[in-house]
Parts: sequence; C-alpha cells; structure tokens
Amino acid sequence: MNKIDFFTPIQYDGQEKSIKHPSVVLLNNGVTLTESTVQKVQSVMSSVFKMEENNGVKLYSSQPTHRIFSINSEPNLIFKYVQENEVEERYNRMVIAKTVCKTHDLGLLVIPDASKFEVEHQGKKYTLIAEEKVEIKPEGSAQEQCYEDYADSLNETIRQLAVFICKTGFSDMEWRNAPVVENSLDGNGNRKIALIDLEEMSTAEKGLFGGARPPRRGLVNCVNEEQGKIVVKEAKKHLSWSSSLGEFAEFRQNVRKRELKDVALLRDFYSTHNIQNGDEQIVTKTKELDFSGYPKSEKLYKLAIGLIDEINQRTKGSSSEKSVKGRRYIYINTNITADTLFYTKDRMCPNRKLSWDYDTTEEYRNNTYLGIVVKKLVDLGHISKIIKRNGHGYFLQA
Ligand SMILES: Nc1ncnc2c1ncn2[C@@H]1O[C@H](COP(=O)(O)OP(=O)(O)OP(=O)(O)O)[C@@H](O)[C@H]1O
Ligand SMILES: [Mg+2]
Repeated sequence: MNKIDFFTPIQYDGQEKSIKHPSVVLLNNGVTLTESTVQKVQSVMSSVFKMEENNGVKLYSSQPTHRIFSINSEPNLIFKYVQENEVEERYNRMVIAKTVCKTHDLGLLVIPDASKFEVEHQGKKYTLIAEEKVEIKPEGSAQEQCYEDYADSLNETIRQLAVFICKTGFSDMEWRNAPVVENSLDGNGNRKIALIDLEEMSTAEKGLFGGARPPRRGLVNCVNEEQGKIVVKEAKKHLSWSSSLGEFAEFRQNVRKRELKDVALLRDFYSTHNIQNGDEQIVTKTKELDFSGYPKSEKLYKLAIGLIDEINQRTKGSSSEKSVKGRRYIYINTNITADTLFYTKDRMCPNRKLSWDYDTTEEYRNNTYLGIVVKKLVDLGHISKIIKRNGHGYFLQA
C-alpha cells in the first residue's frame, strides 16, 4: 500500500499553526486542540508517566510502555503517549484506515479523528496523539458481551471489518481494540464498531483468523458462527486463497465453535446459580466442604475456606465495567514469588509422603491440595470451570 503523505493538523484556538496537506484535510480533519488543552495535558504529564490517577487524569488499560489517558476538563478527547518511534507509524495507520474506509464504503467502521501535538516534560519534548473519544465500554470482557448481545445488528459491520482487515492487514483484532459504539443502531438495524488501536498491521490472515506469536484472537474468534462464515466469504474474495489458508481458517472456526459452546454452558451456569452482576459471593455450608475421605482433611478444609475467601474478595473488588464473566475470571497465582498460601498447596499432595516430587501431569495436579479443593468447589457448583492450570497458577471461571 502506498504511504500517504501528510502533515499533522494541529490547531491552536482555531488558528492553524502548522501546514495541512490537502489530502489530510480530506481524510482526517483532526481534532481541534486549544492552547489551554495542550497546557493542561503538559501539566499532568508527571502523573501520567507515574501512572497516578490524580489531577483529573484517568488512565486506560494499555501496553506497559504506553500511556492512554483522559483528563476531566476534556471529556471528548483521549490522549495517547506511545514510544517515540511508534507515534508516526500509529498516526499514519489511522490515516490509511480512514482512506480504506472511504474507498471501500465501510461506513459502519469508525476511525476516530486525531491530531498529533507536542508537550514538554522535564526538558524533553514528547509527541502525543489526541483522539476523538468514542462512546464505548472500555473493558475487553464487556466488549465480548456486546458482540454477543448485539450480534443481530453486527452482521454487516463484521463483513465490513473483514474487508477492512483484508485491505489493511490490521492484525491486533481483539474485542477491546474494536469496540461496539454505544447507541449507534441505525435505521437499517446496524451498529457501528470503532477501531481505536490500529497500531499493528502485520498480516490480514492474523487479523482474520488469529495466531500465536504474539497471541491474537482474530476476527473469527470474536464473532458467532454465522458471522465467522461471513468473514471467510469476504476473505476468499479479497485475499489470495490457498488450501492451507482454508485449512487454517476452518481450524480456527472450529476453535471458536467449541468456545461458543462453553459460553452457552456458562450462561446456563449463571442462570442456575442466579448470578447476574458478577460480584455475587460464594456462601458455603460447613457440611458440604467434607474432605473426610482424604488424609489431612482439616488442612484441605482450611484451604477450601481460604480459596473461597480469595475468590469472594476478588469478585467483590472487580470492576463493574467488566462483564459478569470478566468479573468472575479468577487467576490464582501459585508462583513462589507471589507470597501466597497457594504456592505450596499447588505442589504438595496430602496422600504422598514425598511431598516435593512435583510433576506437571494432570494426575499429579488432581492430587495436590489445591487440585483436590478446586475439584470439590467445581463439583459443588461454586466454580464453573478450570480454564487452565500450569506452573504459574490456576485460571478459574467462578
Ligand atoms: N478513541 C478512543 N475512545 C474511547 N476510548 C478509547 C479510545 N482510544 C483508546 N481508548 C481506551 O483506551 C484503551 C487503551 O487504548 P489503546 O488500545 O489505544 O492502547 P494500546 O496500548 O495500544 O492497547 P493494547 O494493549 O491493545 O495494545 C482502549 O482499550 C479503550 O478502552
Ligand atoms: Mg488496545
């Protein structure tokens, strides 16, 4: 794709200080930044770099090297600090994205208007991006829920997104990066999707079907089965299709099919257990935590109480911006560095003398203190599922 030549459309108090390239005006009107906005951003940079939410700063979850933030006084803007060598590229890709949407009539995709501007902090100059703030739910898990809840109004939008990915190679396709715009339902029954993180455009195949390094979900793994077929149909039109790509696409569609079955099971689980908000607490009767068939039953009982406490604390403290599933997705850290009661209990077995002959087989894990207790809580319906477990810990869906 040809690189588009442009200059940054920074505007101060309505008066342009930099030269705009005509094509940029056409593609991207930019956002208007007043002198006072620039000053305000400059004055909070210290909080931003230290990741402190004071002075009216709100930080959004991002890559560790990035700072994505808003300030109280500018409710319609999001500011992005990314590493120096990435700003230009990131901004360029937004411009390219706007062009592609225009050229291919992808009107249901929203690329926020944006401008670059400079601030000074401790004698150093930084180029930031100011972006139009789109009305979205910021949490990835909430977006997963939006894709599900609004599926009926997203078919054409997903088709357009598939075309967009084919044309740009946009590859960081995750729910959080392509959120559904709130209140965007139009007269044709379609909703819009905003593309707020276009930094990564590696390959269309990855954007459509996902991949492992770095881990990317891909569009097919964000949508339902019917929409997955729409994605493949578009991909066949716009990419050079090969049998190996066809096999990969089919494999990834099957992965999603299995995942959607789990989603349906989880929905039933929550309905049976009357879980509606996500912060519902596990309440146990002493009698049901019966480990009398095992040696060291008292220790198992204590561990079960400890684990339930941990899960309850975590769901209680979880953000209400997350989906129910997101609030109840619990990582139990069993690393030695975590300083928790779970480390040894993930390694030791009540029924073995040599408690440190740790191995990673499923059989061993089923027989550790933690393995026994987690299984009990699953059997009792307090935990829905073990998503996975490894040397770092347990990933539980409560
Ligand atoms: N234009 C916008 N409007 C509203 N919210 C936004 C906008 N841009 C970013 N956000 C919020 O900030 C979060 C982080 O932004 P962004 O995705 O640009 O950061 P990143 O570091 O590139 O993310 P990632 O971890 O996905 O690489 C988004 O997930 C979203 O919640
Ligand atoms: Mg992102």
